[in-house]
Amino acid sequence: MNELNTYLSEHKNRFIDELIEILKIPSISADSAFSQDVFDMAEAVKKSLEDAGCSKVEICETPGYPIVYGEKIIDPSLPTILVYGHYDVQPPDPINLWNSPPFEPVIKTTKIHPEGAIFARGACDDKGQMYMHIKALEFMCSTNQLPCNVKFMIEGEEEIGSESLAWFVKNHQEKLANDIILISDTGMISNDQPSITTGLRGLSYVEVEVTGPNRDLHSGIYGGAVANPINVLAKMIASLHDENNHITIPGFYDKVEELSPEERAEMAKAPFSLEQYKKDLDIDAVYGEKGYTTNERNSIRPTLDVNGIWGGYTGEGAKTVIASKAYAKISMRLVPHQDWKEITQLFKTHFESIAPKGVKVVVTPHHGGQGYVTPIDNIGYKAASMAYAETFGKTPIPQRSGGSIPIVSLFEQELKSKTILMGFGLDSDAIHSPNEHFGIFNYLKGIATIPLFYKYYTALSKK
Ligand code: BES
Ligand code: MN
Ligand code: MN
Repeated sequence: MNELNTYLSEHKNRFIDELIEILKIPSISADSAFSQDVFDMAEAVKKSLEDAGCSKVEICETPGYPIVYGEKIIDPSLPTILVYGHYDVQPPDPINLWNSPPFEPVIKTTKIHPEGAIFARGACDDKGQMYMHIKALEFMCSTNQLPCNVKFMIEGEEEIGSESLAWFVKNHQEKLANDIILISDTGMISNDQPSITTGLRGLSYVEVEVTGPNRDLHSGIYGGAVANPINVLAKMIASLHDENNHITIPGFYDKVEELSPEERAEMAKAPFSLEQYKKDLDIDAVYGEKGYTTNERNSIRPTLDVNGIWGGYTGEGAKTVIASKAYAKISMRLVPHQDWKEITQLFKTHFESIAPKGVKVVVTPHHGGQGYVTPIDNIGYKAASMAYAETFGKTPIPQRSGGSIPIVSLFEQELKSKTILMGFGLDSDAIHSPNEHFGIFNYLKGIATIPLFYKYYTALSKK
């Protein structure tokens, strides 16, 4: 597609400028102080879909943030691709660790991104990757090369559990009917070695509260004589892993899919340097479940991690006190066949059962979702593989990811279609962290690869 290269080089500066504009909108779904910005962002997505060539674009109201829906149906007898993405972003905190303000995008070069990367919250997750699809559509429409039908569904609650989208999908099956779902909201191995994500982990997210005495106490007068909720919580959390870093919740592993030695050997072929991994993170050793490699621990094995823990006095100086309450937020990443609601229940039962006398424990489930594994023997995967091979000059490697996009399993359940995860981010792009960025190379490669997916998918559908 030479025309594509010409179009890209003619318009790439505008593509970058347009992305920078939408990155300025702080569409933080988790923080209600930014609610207006999230709505504004939906309007911006609507406008960009119209400009790119969709024939129908609507803002679909939900009980929460709207879903932007757009479509271009050229011939009902041709296949239909449904593109999903999200326009909400994670909160930027801790703000003081950013080298430039999170909603004032700047382009800087890095070792991995010699051609420059855009630094801003959402640059990679998922505004930059979502916008690649809109620019790919613009190219296909304005050069008369759209080979099939396309529908867009861009939501604003992915980072907080996609509750409204679940409702929307269940109620609009006909509107969303498609042959394949296409998402760019994951990563790849490196800019020299593309990969296609074939699995996502499920998630169960809970909050726990431990209450001891009915009020904060002097730690001298009462210390040693009553249960200290923070001490107790720390002990309870520590007991959730054994000496081999296995999770101790009874029944937790019962349904875990065990990969065959052949599958594990296949996985181990993906290029990976443990030395580089440790160096990047400035750690002297990796840590995790005994009997598994780093790449297995972060993809095919379930995990339990404390995401936040608080209670008592954390201000300046010292205050001698036994707090009445202690809290933690805990996430469990799940693998195929583990049911997130069942795991949440197992956690709750176990955590309540290990509470010592003298404290009360309350477990509150937050959101969750099922994992997902996509087969590689279908035309969707083949089309994606051919598209990457053409733009990168290398066949992509299938790879399971440790992250979660819980709505993907619901798409399969409600819309009966498979999802192809064409991610262009890198692990080092710092999504959810300070200084999130997205390589200009990756952004433009994405825009170049997506139309090829359309082309090959349509061609393979005819056979
Ligand atoms: N885009 C990520 C998920 C992701 C990132 C998958 C990289 C694979 C590789 C998504 O926006 C995300 O952050 N998901 C959350 C779950 C959600 C329910 C809050 C996650 O994985 O923590
Ligand atoms: Mn995302
Ligand atoms: Mn995210």
